[in-house]
Amino acid sequence: MASLTVRQLDEALKQQLRLRAARNGRSVEDEIRNILRSAAAEVEATAPMVAAAAEAKASAPARHPDVSVNRVLLIVGGGIAAYKSLDLIRRLKERGLSVRCILTKAAEHFVTPLAAGALVGERIFTDLFDPRTEFDVGHVRLARETDLIVAAPATADLVAKLAGGHADDLATAVLLATTAKILLAPAMNPRMWANKATQRNIAQLAADGFVFVGPNEGEMAEAGERGRGRMAEPLEITAAVEKLLGANQVRPLKGRRVLVTSGPTHEPIDPVRYIANRSSGKQGHAIAAAAARAGAEVTLVSGPVSLPDPPEVKTIHVESARDMLAAVEAALPVDIGIFAAAVADWRVAGEAQQKIKKRAGAATPELSLVENPDILSTIAHRKAQRPRLVIGFAAETENVVAHAKEKLAKKGCDWILANDVSPETGIMGGDMNTIQLVRDSGVESWPPQSKEDVAAMLIERIAQQMAAE
Ligand code: C5P
Repeated sequence: MASLTVRQLDEALKQQLRLRAARNGRSVEDEIRNILRSAAAEVEATAPMVAAAAEAKASAPARHPDVSVNRVLLIVGGGIAAYKSLDLIRRLKERGLSVRCILTKAAEHFVTPLAAGALVGERIFTDLFDPRTEFDVGHVRLARETDLIVAAPATADLVAKLAGGHADDLATAVLLATTAKILLAPAMNPRMWANKATQRNIAQLAADGFVFVGPNEGEMAEAGERGRGRMAEPLEITAAVEKLLGANQVRPLKGRRVLVTSGPTHEPIDPVRYIANRSSGKQGHAIAAAAARAGAEVTLVSGPVSLPDPPEVKTIHVESARDMLAAVEAALPVDIGIFAAAVADWRVAGEAQQKIKKRAGAATPELSLVENPDILSTIAHRKAQRPRLVIGFAAETENVVAHAKEKLAKKGCDWILANDVSPETGIMGGDMNTIQLVRDSGVESWPPQSKEDVAAMLIERIAQQMAAE
């Protein structure tokens, strides 16, 4: 195909494309090319898996058709607590859950579809009579393709509509059409909560099998207001979600052994001095934590960082590249190896055993360097005990994808997560990351997102790969 003309795009979609292109520093045309490339790569990568998953899971209706994760549909109602729903999306995704989101009309006064969409990683649903929604998803599919619906905040109005069985917008139509469990996180002014009508509606919904989390006692958003009516905190709601999913919660990496390297290495000059780099370990630690939440048995080999050890992860602390390689080899065999550490390329030849003294008139010491072992390459080229999936990172400052492709071949790994670490991106040591996933099957561009969200997305891709095998 020499060229492609796209006609009949509505203004809103054009605007979204322009924004996305600007964010990624591309022309709109390049952005569309990029989207098409990612879509093609995804179709190719998921095609065998869809067939395998369909066969294996024909009798398990409550699952996403192509990913073995639980799906949560979040309905955001129109109250001041809606701002917390953005954090809730993050918390749910951190737990490896797949999240879809509906904003009610009133909710759009508090959060924008753009902000919620950036966190969810897909479009947000807002209208019952949106021709796009009805064509490709529709309220009946939204209601059916979910394991659990969470309404947070559930306003007094939403609660009343539910108790009365109304269905005059997308949120209420989906809530009426679903057979999935429904968790409500009410949030309203204390007098509205205490009102007899609200209490009557709540009692009715509890009798109908709805589950509640909160509301809590405390300060309200309005100055001077206190009482019962505060929405439960995102972590409380997440805990209630996990409890409701219970034994049905899919842990897509259960039974898998995962090894992650993280942080910098310190290469000693003498007993008190060393050569280091600016890696914080945030990305590697987030990956180890996400893998553990997905049910994997995780070993994290970490260089010196100031982060706490992630929960439920066996963490081994090392200093130098050689120590890191030894710890990695001792942790084999594993199913998946993820090499996120910023390993120093060189160490000092002939490290001094005593502190090098500064002496008046003496020549400045000269450091000569020798190459460190390449841990990723060593493990990827192993004949015995090579992990089934070996994943590396490529931190580049230019020609990111081209260099990553070269690295994929040179290091013998299966996937590379490439990112631009030019100082102006703020990635090194920062909280955000923008990844291009480079695989033999193609390149996938991920949106700028937190390192936690990158970790969740990587675990999702790994789970797809494992399911396909
Ligand atoms: O060659 P470069 O340092 O750009 O490669 C980055 C990838 O290789 C990362 O995944 C990093 O963890 C890994 N690496 C390694 N051992 C080294 C150097 C890099 O495991 N000595």
